[in-house]
This record gives sequence, structure tokens and C-alpha cells, in this order.
Amino acid sequence: MNKTIDKMLDKREMIFISSTNRSDARNFHVSDYYRTPIPKIKEFLSEFSKHENILNSKIRILDPCAGGDNTNQMSYPTAIQEFSNQDISIDTIDIRDDSRANLKQDYLKFQPKEKYDVIITNPPFNLSLDIINKALNDVKEGGFVIMLLRLNCLGGKVRQELWKNNMPKYIFVHNKRMSFTDNGKTDSIEYAHFVWKKGYNPNFSKLKVLISK
Ligand SMILES: C[S@@+](CC[C@H](N)C(=O)[O-])C[C@H]1O[C@@H](n2cnc3c(N)ncnc32)[C@H](O)[C@@H]1O
Repeated sequence: MNKTIDKMLDKREMIFISSTNRSDARNFHVSDYYRTPIPKIKEFLSEFSKHENILNSKIRILDPCAGGDNTNQMSYPTAIQEFSNQDISIDTIDIRDDSRANLKQDYLKFQPKEKYDVIITNPPFNLSLDIINKALNDVKEGGFVIMLLRLNCLGGKVRQELWKNNMPKYIFVHNKRMSFTDNGKTDSIEYAHFVWKKGYNPNFSKLKVLISK
């Protein structure tokens, strides 16, 4: 009897350990600071710019959860500058004092003076829905909200209203799991760049799989 219980406990522990090894890669950092790999953002920009021409010197872009710290650049602003090879002005916000953002504050309390053409980021997991909804409010009509999200965010009760009222125009799935940490660990799920166009709520999103080499 005891042996059977021991075996069951061993089995549970093994399952716990193995799922932890694969899926906790983003669970324990301050304010959920994880760095999006710059090459993955460029991969997305390269495909996205075949469909929408957004990168020019007049565009107003906001990265509301910009990241960066004393050793790392802010991933999205860096990728956009390098990819476009232009001096594009990007406003940056982050709640952490050690971030490289221009404005250190809670994005959810930020009052923009003017609406943006593009709002783009990899949001903290636990606030992603609030951040998407606020970004949809802070972007101009016809502007874009672009968020890197886990693919399984398409499910779940909490996001039902979002998908009912705001289908993205595009979903760019990164077929190779990305690592947000130096140790190369990955989440147990693929990520995608979800692209909403404000005022454009299609019945179906266009889905493209980005095949990494
Ligand atoms: C997953 S990281 C992404 C960082 C960066 N965008 C990147 O892709 O490398 C999320 C970032 O959001 C910041 N953050 C968390 N809560 C926030 C809030 N309420 N307002 C603004 N930034 C926040 C964290 O400090 C962290 O830098």
C-alpha cells in the first residue's frame, strides 16, 4: 500500500519537475522582465513590412513595457532602429527603475498627449489583457497594436471579450520556441506577434508561420 502511494508521489513529482523545466522559463523575474531576442523581432518586422508599410521617419511609436537594464538594450526599439535603418522616434515606458525607458511608470496609468500610430511590445504575462486593451485605446484609428503573446492566449475565458470584439488583422507565429533568458530555456509553448489594426475587426485573422532557420 505504502509502496503504491510512494510510486504515485514519485510520478507526480516527476511530472511536476519535467513541466517546470520546460514551462517556468518566464515565471520568476521582477515585474516579468524577460528580453525578447532582437533577431526574432527582426524576423517579424521583415515579414510584416511585406504587408504593411509602417516604418518611416514621421511615425509615432510607443513601446509601453520597453525593458532594458544596465547590460541590455531595449529589444523592440533596438530591433526597429536596426531593421529600418532610419532614425525613428520611439517613446518608451517601463515600470522598473533600472529599465532604459524614457519614462519610468506604470503604463496602465499613462495618459498620452496624442494617440500613437503603432504600439508594440512583449507585455508582462499577468497584465497582458489590460495592456492590450489600453493600447487599443491609445492608438490612432487605422494604427497598429502589436503584441508578442503565447499562442495559447487564444483560449481562456478572460480573453473571450477581446476575441469577440477585436480580432487581430494578422497573427505571425514563430514556429521555433524562443528563449527569453541567458540559459537558453524556453517556455513549453510557441509565441506569436499578434497585430491589431484599430477599427478593423475581421471575422478571421490572417495567420502566417515564420519558419526559423
Ligand atoms: C516580458 S518583459 C519585456 C521587455 C521588453 N519589451 C522585451 O521585449 O525585451 C515585460 C516588461 O514590462 C515591464 N512592466 C511590467 N509591468 C509594467 C507596467 N504596469 N507598466 C509598464 N511596464 C511594465 C517590466 O519591467 C518588463 O521590463
